[in-house]
Amino acid sequence: MNIILVGTQWGDEGKGKIIDILSAKVDCIVRYQGGNNAGHTVVVGDKEYIFHLMPSGILHKAKTCFIGNGVVIDPLVLLEEIEGIRNTGIDINGRLKISTLAHVILPYHKILDQLRETKRKNKIGTTGRGIGPCYADKIIRCGIRMVDLLNPKVLSEKLKDNLKEKNEIFRKVYKHKGFDFNAIYREYLNYGKLFAPYISNTALLLNQAITAKKDILFEGAQGTFLDIDFGTYPFVTSSSATSGGACIGTGVSPVKIDKVIGVAKAYTTRVGEGPFPTEYPAGFAKFMRAKGKEFGATTGRPRRCGWFDSVMVKEAVMLNGITELAVMKMDILDGLKEIKVCTAYKYKGKTFREFPHDFEILNKLKPVYQTLPGWGKDIRKARSFRQLQPNAKNYLARISDMLNTKISLVSIGSAREDTIFLD
Ligand code: IMP
Repeated sequence: MNIILVGTQWGDEGKGKIIDILSAKVDCIVRYQGGNNAGHTVVVGDKEYIFHLMPSGILHKAKTCFIGNGVVIDPLVLLEEIEGIRNTGIDINGRLKISTLAHVILPYHKILDQLRETKRKNKIGTTGRGIGPCYADKIIRCGIRMVDLLNPKVLSEKLKDNLKEKNEIFRKVYKHKGFDFNAIYREYLNYGKLFAPYISNTALLLNQAITAKKDILFEGAQGTFLDIDFGTYPFVTSSSATSGGACIGTGVSPVKIDKVIGVAKAYTTRVGEGPFPTEYPAGFAKFMRAKGKEFGATTGRPRRCGWFDSVMVKEAVMLNGITELAVMKMDILDGLKEIKVCTAYKYKGKTFREFPHDFEILNKLKPVYQTLPGWGKDIRKARSFRQLQPNAKNYLARISDMLNTKISLVSIGSAREDTIFLD
């Protein structure tokens, strides 16, 4: 079975934990978009792992992990991650495959990302990792790919060509001294040597795996509303975070996909700027942020927090073709007297039941809430759906009804064991 796993909100839904659980049941795990802007947290026993580029499935010893062509790679970050995993005693030899066609993040991408943010009137709040500029180079066809790191002549030509134009822009527009060819060339040629054992035609390998009836998990990074097309543009990331991105970002045909699973937090969070209809008032946001440890896994920035927004997640169900949902961090809502769920939006007397695209409406609309009773006690003790408090069951039933989608898994804590399977 080939499964795509996607975030239904603004990322940080808790995908890392679900990927880790599902990884045990498949043969191959693939990252298909984004870069080290992502941060997937997996807790095993008393150890916490945070992955930025490496597919989280690497913790499962017999699995093959792929970094697809749709991913942008900061080689140094990936090397550090490989080193970190090796240091924990996990052998990755022969288990990591990196696409020849994945684009490479260069020092000028990172600096440009940061400089652009300082100049922008409406800041996006990017992670500053060079993601946007690297994808921009891919689209305007001057990017450098992993395969280029293996060919000194091609790398030299492409880098020279890039630096000629970019250094001029850096100096004239940003008053930055620009970048030295030799230093970057030497550094990246060396990355080519270090990554050579891993770089491969991953589209071919994945399609061969499918022919051999192997099971594949496509792990999405970020979330539907950070998608370059369907997200709250321009406050989005630069890749296709929706399920369609899995095919483009790996070279696996859509007809080979069997199922799409959505991941949603039992409430909503967002890092960075942009519209957020159900955002909590500041005081309550601070309380919930501390309760849910809502700080970015990549940048450590405080996450903005708000109520569950069924309009958004319903849109995500449609866009991704989600047939089942994992609801995460239910335990963080423990102890609340009342819990609100957004059922629609209102703007200038008009009710919106679909996610509006007009930026002004999105910024000014007011959410319409249904208020549900909280469940008071600690739900982490439950080990089955039956053992959940009636109001917690009711909350899940309401969400499932609103989205017209079944909930197949509920997470009530960060550990693998704090998971209730409904299916
Ligand atoms: P970029 O991807 O670094 O260009 O950042 C663009 C926007 O996406 C910013 O608001 C980031 O905070 C947000 N973002 C990027 N990656 C993630 C993620 O993995 N989780 C949550 N937000 C993210």
